[in-house]
Amino acid sequence: MQEPTAPQKQIIFSGIQPSGTPTLGNYIGAMRHWQRMQQDYRCIYCVVDLHTLTVRQSPAALRKQSLEMLALLLAVGLDPAQTVLFLQSHVSGHAELNWVLSCYTYMGELSRMTQFKEKSARHADNINAGLFAYPVLMAADILLYQAHLVPVGADQKQHVEICRDVALRFNGLYPGAFTVPEPYIAPNGARVYSLQDPAHKMSKSDAEDTYISLLDRPDVVRRKIKRAVTDSDGEIRYDPQTKPGVSNLLTILAALQGNSVADCAAALAGMGYGALKDAVAQTVVDTLSPMQARFDALMADKPYLEQVLAQGADQADRIARRTLEKVYKKVGLCPRPR
Ligand code: TYM
Repeated sequence: MQEPTAPQKQIIFSGIQPSGTPTLGNYIGAMRHWQRMQQDYRCIYCVVDLHTLTVRQSPAALRKQSLEMLALLLAVGLDPAQTVLFLQSHVSGHAELNWVLSCYTYMGELSRMTQFKEKSARHADNINAGLFAYPVLMAADILLYQAHLVPVGADQKQHVEICRDVALRFNGLYPGAFTVPEPYIAPNGARVYSLQDPAHKMSKSDAEDTYISLLDRPDVVRRKIKRAVTDSDGEIRYDPQTKPGVSNLLTILAALQGNSVADCAAALAGMGYGALKDAVAQTVVDTLSPMQARFDALMADKPYLEQVLAQGADQADRIARRTLEKVYKKVGLCPRPR
């Protein structure tokens, strides 16, 4: 009798820039989902070091942050025995597919990207071609692995959409080239806002007191949350329009406790903002402390981190090569004689 074959798992791809220590926003919007999805999907997660070159980096800091990012992903619970973890620059297929796709992406669609507009305003002295073409490299990342789903925070939705447009255009010309991916944006915590300016997303490129880093120790977490902006009406209620600061704190609490914002607000009804802030700070500390202990242990074991990177690069490279060979053939490039 024939053995029943296990159904193929869908493929997940996502990435994070090693441009600093990730924030609670990165964790709530993306990393915690990456961890959760490992069981049910074939997961491929990438530290996108090439993307960070669009903004000037200190070479020594970038090397350090790339390794720290890997250690943090492991500390969050990503398991190299079931998930592919690697650095983007270790798999040359990303840069190669990037070139091909850049010939199928229009200047007009790239110039509409919100992130390009924001980053070129912030780095007006360095509006380079890489910053403009950033979404093309991101499309290459995703399409190389024939990913079905891309778990990201809400700020990356536009980039996944342009990736879909490019994939559909390419498939229209060369049928069957790519799987067309869907964004996966969780309803809760897809956008965590700055603690000081809740109209803007929490970002590691802003001032220190506006975000919580995953490596902030308990006293720092408590201080930053105590100083978070709220409002003057004193009522704990989820209403992002009129109460953005309080709603942001409730979003953080709900995401980390695995509850709805409504339940969190109900549990704190009638209490003051001090109680809300204490609850948020305690929940954040309880989430980060075990992660930080694992991070410290991992950073003390460089050979292990390097082994994970070597294994991840080999696994990713094998998949990437298959797609790249297919794409090169479809567009008419001659195979290299062996
Ligand atoms: P990056 O490095 O800015 O952020 C990594 C992930 O964290 C999410 N995120 C947030 N979610 C909620 N609230 C926030 N305040 C917040 N800040 C960040 C981001 O949405 C993202 O999911 N371009 C990407 C990296 C990338 C990528 C890819 C992602 C490169 N190639 C391919 C997916 C697939 C970026 O800069 O993410």
